[in-house]
Amino acid sequence: MLRQLPAMIAGVVLAMAAPLAMAQDDSEGLGKQVFDVWCGICHGLPNGASGGGTETLAALYRGTEIPAQLEDRSDLTEELVVTLTRDGRNTMPNFRKTEISDSELAALVAYLVRDSGE
Ligand code: HEC
Repeated sequence: MLRQLPAMIAGVVLAMAAPLAMAQDDSEGLGKQVFDVWCGICHGLPNGASGGGTETLAALYRGTEIPAQLEDRSDLTEELVVTLTRDGRNTMPNFRKTEISDSELAALVAYLVRDSGE
């Protein structure tokens, strides 16, 4: 009985994980949630918060057609979103897997890169 315990636990974990995975099928919805929790404070409306991502990008892209707010961008690539999230850049912090898991990052990519190729 005790020897079978690991297998039983694995079975229970799998049974619990399956509905969770199905609930996350709506990855853009999850991506929006992740964005609001971790990114919105800096990449939301200008002057809406103190983080400064929108203001910095507005300065970076001044004189171009590229919008300052990340959610309005249609040119974001998976590579850029993943690299910036995991490594940060200048005053943007990096995010660990204990903060944003790989599956949450995938949902975030699905949300932010949603307009490309349309
Ligand atoms: C503490 C504020 C802050 C937070 C939180 C933050 N960012 Fe940033 N982000 C910045 C700043 C500032 C820049 C501009 C960096 C620079 O100066 O190069 C930036 C740049 C970026 C860029 C590069 C855009 C470009 O055109 O080069 C991406 C992509 C990005 N952030 C995504 C995210 C995502 C996704 C999250 C959430 C997981 C996030 N950021 C959270 C402040 C933040």
